[in-house]
Amino acid sequence: MSASADLHVEKVRENYDTRVDQWQTIYDGESFHDHVIQRRMDRCLEAVDTLGPVSGKPLSEESRRALDVGCGAGQMALALAQRGYEVSAVDVSEGMIEATTATFEAAGATADIQLADMRHLPYEDDTFDWVSGLGAIEYLTDPGEAVEEFARVLVPGGHMVVTSPNPYRLAFALDPIGVAIGLLGPPPTGYPRQYLSASTLRGLAERAGVEVVGLLGHGIGPLQVAKKPLLPARTSIKLSHSAERSLPLSWLEKLGANMIMVARKPG
Ligand SMILES: C[S@@+](CC[C@H](N)C(=O)[O-])C[C@H]1O[C@@H](n2cnc3c(N)ncnc32)[C@H](O)[C@@H]1O
Repeated sequence: MSASADLHVEKVRENYDTRVDQWQTIYDGESFHDHVIQRRMDRCLEAVDTLGPVSGKPLSEESRRALDVGCGAGQMALALAQRGYEVSAVDVSEGMIEATTATFEAAGATADIQLADMRHLPYEDDTFDWVSGLGAIEYLTDPGEAVEEFARVLVPGGHMVVTSPNPYRLAFALDPIGVAIGLLGPPPTGYPRQYLSASTLRGLAERAGVEVVGLLGHGIGPLQVAKKPLLPARTSIKLSHSAERSLPLSWLEKLGANMIMVARKPG
């Protein structure tokens, strides 16, 4: 682990400490970006609901553990708790940890909520049925380190669901001026974020020794010129929905703004 990777994590942490309000309200937002975030969580939860805990037994029979990494304001962690999982949630930002604690308190729910860096999860090997990392691994200089760490803490047969922004998204292909503007200036957050395609995610899964059981792209659009949207957000969201319904999965995997990978630890 290099000093520059540590410095990068520190910059991300400082930045997210200033963005707690954004992540507390994003699931009620109406912009195209807010929609992609909301859809991302819905699709990840569909995977959890479809695949379930390792044994397949009803959750009420025995406690099943789930870990949400980079938990932000805690919405995914709470959704897992509401499904009956015994939840742990970690984030590198103290502000986000306070927000997640507040989210659980407001819902009258409980969780193990800890300040931690996803490169060193404070858990034993073979602990969780599910590990989720929504919009998390792209904040490391080497996202593969996180996928390996998620695999370590999964029980054999357990699943991870990880997401990443897709470098080949249709929105970039339709707006080369916007892409050029983005490349010319420094990143607005002060640090670069990784864009990971479907094939890069498959490579990370292979490196971590987990089997990919699903890869999905979602969020088709929006149509922009020089980063300025050409259509109202509501129209772009409707178009994205109908594209997701009608395009083959292999196209969504190429064109989606965001990628979701579900992978299983062998055993
Ligand atoms: C884009 S937000 C996503 C929040 C949440 N997963 C969601 O989808 O609502 C990214 C989160 O990852 C956290 N994060 C970034 N780098 C991290 C690291 N090295 N370890 C743990 N959390 C990290 C940030 O503090 C932030 O809360």
